[in-house]
Amino acid sequence: MNEPFQGFSKLTRQERYQKLLSTGVLSREEVEYLEHGGLKDLSLGEKFIENVIGYFQLPLGVATHFRIDGKDILIPMAVEETSIVAAASKTAKWIRESGFIQTRVDGHEIIGQIQIAVLHKYDLFSKVILEHKLRLIEMANREVAFGLVKRGGGVTDINVRVLDRPDGLKMGIVHVMVNSCDAMGANVINQVCEFLKEPIESLTGEKVTMCILSNLVTSKITKAEVVLEKVDPELAAKIEEASLFAEIDPYRAATNNKGVLNGIDPILIATGNDWRAVEAGVHAYAARKGAYSSLTRWFREGSRLVGRFEAPLIVGTVGGVTTLHPTAKMAMKILQVESANELSRIIAAVGLVQNLGALKALTTVGIIEGHMKLHIKNLTLGAGAEEKEIPYVQKRLEEILALRKRISLSNAIEVLRELRLQRSSKPDHETHHV
Ligand code: HMG
Repeated sequence: MNEPFQGFSKLTRQERYQKLLSTGVLSREEVEYLEHGGLKDLSLGEKFIENVIGYFQLPLGVATHFRIDGKDILIPMAVEETSIVAAASKTAKWIRESGFIQTRVDGHEIIGQIQIAVLHKYDLFSKVILEHKLRLIEMANREVAFGLVKRGGGVTDINVRVLDRPDGLKMGIVHVMVNSCDAMGANVINQVCEFLKEPIESLTGEKVTMCILSNLVTSKITKAEVVLEKVDPELAAKIEEASLFAEIDPYRAATNNKGVLNGIDPILIATGNDWRAVEAGVHAYAARKGAYSSLTRWFREGSRLVGRFEAPLIVGTVGGVTTLHPTAKMAMKILQVESANELSRIIAAVGLVQNLGALKALTTVGIIEGHMKLHIKNLTLGAGAEEKEIPYVQKRLEEILALRKRISLSNAIEVLRELRLQRSSKPDHETHHV
């Protein structure tokens, strides 16, 4: 296995920086920027939001061992939860050794919606819009989406939906389909819809109520597939059962999908993408058949275990925070992606891999063991241990975990209390090891 980041998890932070430098992933200035805590200058924050008083810092890590569509990729993840980065890396290592990951995006267009709350002549409404749709598309491309047209995108289609209202009247919805190229597209599609408001009103004689993009982008779906060869039949069967559980039970589906999003959200955040928009779209897609269900499916094919993910993952690689925030720019550099579609495919792959990592743990040793192994450090710090006390408290907590199979903050507080009591009752030379 010729992999530059093998053994990365065993390195100290300084060694990790050296590795990123020697492999050319980051420059010395970028490493120094990260080492000193990242973005400090509040004037950039002022450009993003209102009433700024500071930054909220999240840890940024990199998950290793990923080979997606035959390409080695280091995955930047901004997240606060212990074990996500480790589990992603561990599972990617398994797949790298015994299988492969392939991805694709089906479709190009994002969707904008124009609402006519109450249609007066609903039978005529669709007819008029559809008759004039080519002219509406041409006008929108000429007046608003000309930048996208130059890059091979722009408004491509217009559809009409008529919905039944609870009061017996009809609501009209115009769907404007836009190929936003490498932009997430929210701004341009909202502008296109607002531009079309007036021509639609004058063509139909109806009154437009509102215009906004939809986050349920069924016209552009990102898909990922993991194939693992020669999987232990018992493990494969358990993962298949776990998958079925999430498919048919919304209570389990919600938690399963949280595990998938453990892989997705940290990349969205690291690259400055709108994770609320993706979350909204993903959950709506998970409920598209009328009941909330799993975003992933795992099944056996002979001795193979196959996993599939699909959902709308609308992201951008140009514009917005992605190109303005220096840490997001660095994350994009680490990923070395060339298009929004490629970024979306990587995100889908990591979500699916993350799901497999959780399912494997859940159906074998349980989630507590690995999670807690890594969570011990948080508990140690949470209990208030000082630097020199940390190794002792961690070791004791590992022993308690191995013995009782569970551990909590109160264990950490208790261990620390005992240690301090022990220290205060002994002369200095007998307690110097802590
Ligand atoms: P382990 O077997 O102790 O790991 O697993 P290992 O020491 O044998 O190392 C194997 C590889 O894991 C390493 O390979 C690393 O890549 C990675 P190497 O690079 O060394 O050749 N790794 C680490 N990377 C960085 N720092 C570390 C580290 N440790 C291992 N400290 C592990 C330990 C936690 C990975 C494992 O127990 C595991 O995968 N557990 C699952 C944890 C998980 O899924 N966490 C997500 C949060 S849980 C949740 O919220 C979602 C859930 O509700 C979803 C659902 O219900 O579906 C569960």
